[in-house]
Amino acid sequence: MLSDSPSHYGSITRCLHWLIAILVILQLTSVFFNILWEGNVYSQGVVQWHTTIGVGILALMAIRTLWAISQLRHRPEHRGALQKVAIWGHALMYLVLLLMPLSGMASTWGSGYGISVFDTAYWTDADVPWAAAFGQIHVPLSWFLSTLVTGHIVMAGYHRLIRRDDTLHRMIGR
Ligand code: HEM
Ligand code: HEM
Repeated sequence: MLSDSPSHYGSITRCLHWLIAILVILQLTSVFFNILWEGNVYSQGVVQWHTTIGVGILALMAIRTLWAISQLRHRPEHRGALQKVAIWGHALMYLVLLLMPLSGMASTWGSGYGISVFDTAYWTDADVPWAAAFGQIHVPLSWFLSTLVTGHIVMAGYHRLIRRDDTLHRMIGR
């Protein structure tokens, strides 16, 4: 089934979730591993695509947000005491995943470097101080996103291993 239903997420939601998850994990781990082991092969390979992957995430997140709004009425419900935490946590991840690439793009565009996608820089030589200033939230936001994602993965493990409910299965598709 393409659409979501009260018992599971449909294939469009699942594809978008896992594709964006892989891209976000590539972005975060490539930068953080480089801080730990500077110049390692993995980071060097991925970081050169940082802006391209980031712009891709923005495009996918725009589609995902519109899709999620269209599915709101028939998505699986959150249960238990942490219901509100799950709803707000997911909403916050949407917001941060939109702000992350937007702030990165504002940073490079506002400082005159343009926006690089597949080795081509678009809209170079701009000098827009407010955009460059907005770009300064990019790094702190990356730490906040890492915290959110870590908490999210821990909660997925908690549902699977401790509560033993169907939360992970409905996002995997079984
Ligand atoms: C969801 C998408 C993105 C994620 C998760 C992400 C993540 C990160 C991370 C973790 C850092 C390093 C933070 C640190 O040094 O501690 C970083 C730095 C940077 N990112 Fe992104 N990024 C994304 C999208 C973008 C985009 C679309 C652009 C530009 C078009 C961009 C441009 C930059 C720049 C220029 C830096 C260096 C900033 C600095 O050191 O001051 N990023 N990003
Ligand atoms: C960067 C990585 C990730 C991001 C940004 C992310 C984001 C999200 C978001 C926003 C949702 C809400 C549903 C939606 O609108 O799509 C969600 C649901 C979910 N995610 Fe992730 N996710 C990530 C990685 C993972 C990983 C690695 C796992 C498994 C270990 C996982 C398991 C789940 C599950 C089980 C749900 C359904 C939760 C529920 O229905 O209560 N996610 N994720």
